[in-house]
Amino acid sequence: MGSVAIVLAAGEGTRMKSVIPKVLHQLCDRPMLAYVLDTVTALAIDRTLVVLGFGADQVRASIDTAVDSVVQEEQLGTGHAVKTAARALRADEDQILVLPGDAPLITLDTLQRLLQAHRQGAAAATMLTAVLPDPAGYGRVVRDAGGELVRVVEESDADDVTRAIHEVNTSIYVFARKPLLGALERLDRSNTQSEYYLTDVIQILAGQGERVLAAQAGDALETLGINSRAQLAEAAALMRRRINRGWMDEGVTLEDPAMTYIGGLARIGRDTVIRPLTFIAGATVIGEGCLLGPSCRIQNSRIADGARVQESVLVECDIGENADVGPYASVRPGTVLGPGAKLGTFVEAKNTKVGRGSKVPHLSYMGDADIGENANVGAGSITCNYDGEKKHRTVIEDEAFIGSDTMLVAPVKIGRGAVTGAGSAITKDVPEGALGVERAQQKNISGWRPRRKKGEDERDNP
Ligand code: UD1
Ligand code: CA
Repeated sequence: MGSVAIVLAAGEGTRMKSVIPKVLHQLCDRPMLAYVLDTVTALAIDRTLVVLGFGADQVRASIDTAVDSVVQEEQLGTGHAVKTAARALRADEDQILVLPGDAPLITLDTLQRLLQAHRQGAAAATMLTAVLPDPAGYGRVVRDAGGELVRVVEESDADDVTRAIHEVNTSIYVFARKPLLGALERLDRSNTQSEYYLTDVIQILAGQGERVLAAQAGDALETLGINSRAQLAEAAALMRRRINRGWMDEGVTLEDPAMTYIGGLARIGRDTVIRPLTFIAGATVIGEGCLLGPSCRIQNSRIADGARVQESVLVECDIGENADVGPYASVRPGTVLGPGAKLGTFVEAKNTKVGRGSKVPHLSYMGDADIGENANVGAGSITCNYDGEKKHRTVIEDEAFIGSDTMLVAPVKIGRGAVTGAGSAITKDVPEGALGVERAQQKNISGWRPRRKKGEDERDNP
């Protein structure tokens, strides 16, 4: 006895009005299909089989190679999709879970309860249903006087009485192999959409006197299917709430969870405080006791314990323990900040190493630079790293002191403990301990200011 999960992901998603296959649209930073596959993978199920179709190559590229797939060349409906997958079933796979790829909120717990209800009921089919305040767009569940399942009627095929039903099909089912395969053979396209409806399997099996059960989802919201951009936004808001709740449960403070955006792949250590309007995206890993925000975007980065980041954008960078970033810093890919280092107000850094305890506090651009430990880069200093053709590196050794408004014309090296004079354009290396200064001598011209009439002076400076 084996079990398999068939995930339906072949549809184009016409209602999304997009060139991107529907299941690849993202919520909280990940394609909706990824959430479904993660949940299915956590079940005690032997194999997962994804039905691909529209944008098959793109969708396949997004899924784990351990997950099998079949291609439904023409998307003739959910029944046709399962029929296509059925041809790829192995001989021993006799319990079949079917899920749509567009219901990312479904939880492990709900799926486990569905599988349990199916086994306990020894049913031919068990359908997960949900009661929705607004059932518009979903297939309605029709029961007989005794409460037994009779059939599912798609909204476009439903009359007013049927449309008034609030119990809907979630498109999640468990089937026993033999009755399913038999019913799939009997599907036809006599409906308003001219599709092979998987939902018709319920009516066929019930009509044959097979045991057809329904299990209701505890929380109807987790069965939400995404067909439109509005539903995508709705599901994303629910997912965000779930992710945020999870991190708060793990000991992270979110000052305003409704204004905090944490992606599905991010990791955050305890006692970190996150202020509003902070976006933590991609495979970002945040340590313990950090202070992030307000207003930050942190993407695919690592932030070590105790670091502080405010009002800044960080992409693919590595921020050391107790380091300080912002406000208003742009930290671009390849930047590595050592422990206790600082990139301050209006500083941009790219592909730059800033050693332990070194500081770039104000208004600077550090590109392709290697800064040693305990160096100080004065306000307004800039690495001139690009000569119009190539990028060159700037080396600033330990304890160097870069005077304000220094232009470091790369390639150039400032030796250990060396100093540059404020306002210098440094084109030659400055040896260890030396002062490099490049600027004209100051000239003072006395009596320059035109003498004002006594009366004006008195009016200006009473
Ligand atoms: C379907 C159900 C409806 C249910 C709703 C729940 C049918 C006929 N209708 O409607 O009863 O209330 O889900 O969300 O089953 N797909 C394929 N191949 C196809 C067609 C669809 O793989 O040929 C996939 C889609 O990619 C999608 C899933 O099947 O992931 C469901 O298809 P969709 O068109 O979204 O069905 P709904 O109209 O939402
Ligand atoms: Ca759907």
